[in-house]
Amino acid sequence: MSASLLTCAFLPRQELSESTRSFVWNNKQKQFKRRSGQQVVTAKIELKPPPYMLNALEPHMSKETLEYHWGRHQRGYVDNLNKQIVGTELDGLTLEGVVLVSYNKGDILPAFNNAAQTWNHEFFWESMAPGGGGKPSGDLLKLINRDFGSFDAFVEEFKLAASSQFGSGWAWLAYKANRLDVGNAVNPLPKEEDKKLVVVKSPNAVNPLVWDYFPILTIDVWEHSYYIDYENRREEYISTFLEKLVSWETVSMRLEIAKSRSTERDKEAERKRREEEEANLPGGEATEMYLESESEESEAE
Ligand SMILES: [Fe+2]
Repeated sequence: MSASLLTCAFLPRQELSESTRSFVWNNKQKQFKRRSGQQVVTAKIELKPPPYMLNALEPHMSKETLEYHWGRHQRGYVDNLNKQIVGTELDGLTLEGVVLVSYNKGDILPAFNNAAQTWNHEFFWESMAPGGGGKPSGDLLKLINRDFGSFDAFVEEFKLAASSQFGSGWAWLAYKANRLDVGNAVNPLPKEEDKKLVVVKSPNAVNPLVWDYFPILTIDVWEHSYYIDYENRREEYISTFLEKLVSWETVSMRLEIAKSRSTERDKEAERKRREEEEANLPGGEATEMYLESESEESEAE
């Protein structure tokens, strides 16, 4: 699966502080209508299908579950979302944009639940693949070993998060590369070793995008995701998900994208910080600025 086909979770936080109209338009998610010779733009979030046939995850997840879960539940979220956002300021944003703006720092707007549930489900379907499960490899496994101690320890933590989420919600593996929002305090850019993988759980429709994390894996633990196949045996469903369904290839690809986006974001934040510093110098004169390491080298010379 190419990176472009993956649900892209990685909208840089700084884009949020700008006008909502600055979000990148996703032409695949909107339709254009012509009315009386005038072009009228109408946002249209599509029901994105899983990247495999609906029976492809059997016997671990049945076609009936996919038909019900994707075909009815997710369709309902998409249909309701389109009704909610048409004609509003959210109309025309990408799905990610609607999620982030409608989260509204926790004081959620009406569209948030349907938007986030749509995003979460797309991400969930793409987290699985026929013949999935087993163990990751490469950089992903290295980071899991570094941040959890071992793959088995990660599995235990993920299972605990997923099984202990009371009621409806989600469990996630996410790449945490954000800085604390501490206003004017000195807040240096995170170093590579400060960026790490974390397991988190979230209630209802909430996802780690709203905490400025980069999600790379999720499991849906709403009862509708497992009841047909596992009845009330959530723990068996979680174990099967990890052992037979997870697409570690996709998770690895998401991790690489997250690392790359995080680095780009840090560079952009540093560039903006330097520009602001420069603009705030007395007289607003453009003065040459040096990187810390360069300054140290200059002093040493
Ligand atoms: Fe669901």
